[in-house]
Amino acid sequence: MQHNDMHVHTSSSPDAEIPASRLCLLGAGAGVGRIGFVAHLDLHPGDFCHGGFREEEYLAELDLAEKAGGSSVLRGLEIGEPHRFMAGAVKMFSPEGYDFITGALHWLGDRMILEEKPFLCEEALPLIEEYYRQTLSIVRGGGVDILAHMGIFRRGMARAGLPVDIDETLLFPGLLSDILSTMIEGGIALELNTSGLRRPERTTYPTLPVLKLYHELGGHRVTIGSDTHREEHVFFGLEKGRDLLELCGFRGYGYFRLREYVHCPLH
Ligand SMILES: [Fe+2]
Repeated sequence: MQHNDMHVHTSSSPDAEIPASRLCLLGAGAGVGRIGFVAHLDLHPGDFCHGGFREEEYLAELDLAEKAGGSSVLRGLEIGEPHRFMAGAVKMFSPEGYDFITGALHWLGDRMILEEKPFLCEEALPLIEEYYRQTLSIVRGGGVDILAHMGIFRRGMARAGLPVDIDETLLFPGLLSDILSTMIEGGIALELNTSGLRRPERTTYPTLPVLKLYHELGGHRVTIGSDTHREEHVFFGLEKGRDLLELCGFRGYGYFRLREYVHCPLH
């Protein structure tokens, strides 16, 4: 059985440190048959990774990894705030060179919601509502195959000492339904990001209620991503992620090759 990890950063991202060729060897040993690599393409001027994307260097790294063997290589990008920066981002890559494009929301205006500051300065609920309003803009805007780590604002909340056991499907039911229905209509896959399981918030992004709602609405395109940046948490939480998807009623999950979704059994 070949499993997939669709969110893995290589040393081509300024905030990550493992070469793709090493990740492919580690993946083969860990039963990860396919690795969906992503490089940060961030055009928000305040972002740590801003200006760090070099397509030629990144794709050369992935070509080298493919030749070295191990896990199969899937070429992807993680575009930050595509609803704001897609026009600039598309000038920086050649779409035909990629298997998938992931869209991610890290910034609400000038507030970095993975950090504690916004949650120390403002009420949490309006920030969360704004996070989901902007998420709706991302999925309406299209151009992405996967929506990354929905609900990752919990990382900032946990850092600010706030409880993260909120249920956005109850707080903002209409908004969440709109986002998930738009994704289903547009063929955008929902990523189950397992990186929060190794952080103090101890949760996936999105959480179980969101996954269940997506399933109830008829969504079946799901991917799992560990958001690996460093060797100590390589491929963390993939099995747990598959168990959670099964618990929510999903019969499979998938990956993208040449921008097409491919369905796989969970176990
Ligand atoms: Fe991200």
